[in-house]
Amino acid sequence: MDANIEAILYLISGVLFILSVRGLSSPETARTGNVLGMIGMGIAIIVTIVGLGEFTDPLTIGMIAGGIALGGGIGALLATRVPMTDMPQTVGMLNSFGGMSAVLVSVAAVLSPADFNIVDVATNAISMGSSIETSLGVIVGAITFSGSVIAAGKLQGVISGAPIVFKGQHPLNALLTIAALVMIGMFVVTGDATWFWAVTALAFLMGITLIIPIGGADMPVVIAILNSYSGFAGAIVGFTLGNTALIITGAMVGSSGAILSYIMCKAMNRSFISVMLGGFGGEVAEGAGGEVETRPVKQGNADDAAFVLKSAGSLIIVPGYGMAVAQAQHAIRELTDELQAKGVSVKFAIHPVAGRMPGHMNVLLAEANVSYDDVYELEDINSEFSQTDVVLVIGANDVTNPAAKTDPTSPIFGMPVLDVENAGTVLFIKRSLASGYAGIHNPLFFEDNTMMLFADAKKMVEDIVKAL
Ligand code: TAP
Repeated sequence: MDANIEAILYLISGVLFILSVRGLSSPETARTGNVLGMIGMGIAIIVTIVGLGEFTDPLTIGMIAGGIALGGGIGALLATRVPMTDMPQTVGMLNSFGGMSAVLVSVAAVLSPADFNIVDVATNAISMGSSIETSLGVIVGAITFSGSVIAAGKLQGVISGAPIVFKGQHPLNALLTIAALVMIGMFVVTGDATWFWAVTALAFLMGITLIIPIGGADMPVVIAILNSYSGFAGAIVGFTLGNTALIITGAMVGSSGAILSYIMCKAMNRSFISVMLGGFGGEVAEGAGGEVETRPVKQGNADDAAFVLKSAGSLIIVPGYGMAVAQAQHAIRELTDELQAKGVSVKFAIHPVAGRMPGHMNVLLAEANVSYDDVYELEDINSEFSQTDVVLVIGANDVTNPAAKTDPTSPIFGMPVLDVENAGTVLFIKRSLASGYAGIHNPLFFEDNTMMLFADAKKMVEDIVKAL
């Protein structure tokens, strides 16, 4: 293919990726954004394959076609099967593939530099610039791979979500980082591939030691950070392969992942450094929720809830992870329609880390056709709770927990939360007094203005609609 045409087509795919990311910034335009990204990626793949030149070797053609069919087939199957609640670990696994691709390309380049046109004619060995590129590609790729596998394992429950910490962990990580830098230096200076293999092995180990101390509550940020790493790994090998599209996409994934990590750190009031140093959040945070709750709570049923809601002038609904588990969004939409028809003002308050992935609640509410105009972000609605008659918390827990404001020993202390307790009445729909993701009790369940509605979220909301 003519190099100019190739460059123009890569440029078009790059523009489509930018429009795609822009589309993904709102649920209203997300679908179009996805389609634009798919077209951009389709163009990039076709141009790359055609740009490889004429190949008649049936093995090469078979491997490319087979790879696309196998990878595409598994991807398509997974996309239809994976429940929305398992999306974070799915993204984690996809990041690991990105990391492993970078490792494989870098390894291939070091094994046969001539095929990658990265041989220095003076020394007849891999050029210095390319040895830096391949070392960076392999280190970022391998850390992304093993780190993402551990993160996905923690989210899937295959590995304990609790932070795995031991004495001397931080010095060990610092030592491994220094050792890796020295090895890269030796590879670049001597050109001896033994240093490259050593750094590859070390990087896989570093992915594990960096992620195991991080607890479940910080995992969403970690997934976003690893997403960013996988992008940068792609951009680095884009230079090795001389592929413009890979450099553009890699840099975009890398920078958008980094921005997302920053936004999430801000939403959880955690610093990037403290997330990476780990040790926060687990299945049950010690001393915060391990003991059995025996305090009495005010309990109600669907008829009681319907009575409270009917007499309210204003209602704010706070959805959380339990709404996703119960798939209660359609029933909630029905409840909203019913109450709005009775003249009740209904708004939705979305915490930035409600559920298990960024935008989780927005996606589910959009799926049920809840109007975007009724959906508010935390900072836009938090001051309204004090003027609201009723708050209906549906399967949310941590994002309402006032311990984040009042208890400096709490693992979520400092995280901005929805001030639901300021409303006249707070109704909580959940199945028990069990804790949420951070493994800590919620003192709001025992407040005078709280009524607990113990049931599956979908069943309870449907019963309330019936009662209304
Ligand atoms: P959580 O604090 O995890 O609480 C969800 C509650 O839903 C649980 O206490 C559970 O109580 C209830 N529940 C589960 N299944 C239910 C069902 N079928 N019907 C009714 N209730 C059900 O959720 P949240 O308030 O949304 O907070 C999110 C938490 O996850 C935060 O700690 C956040 O840091 C973390 N996290 C967030 C993300 C992102 S990016 N959003 C990713 C990973 C982790 P019962 O068992 O008593 O029913």
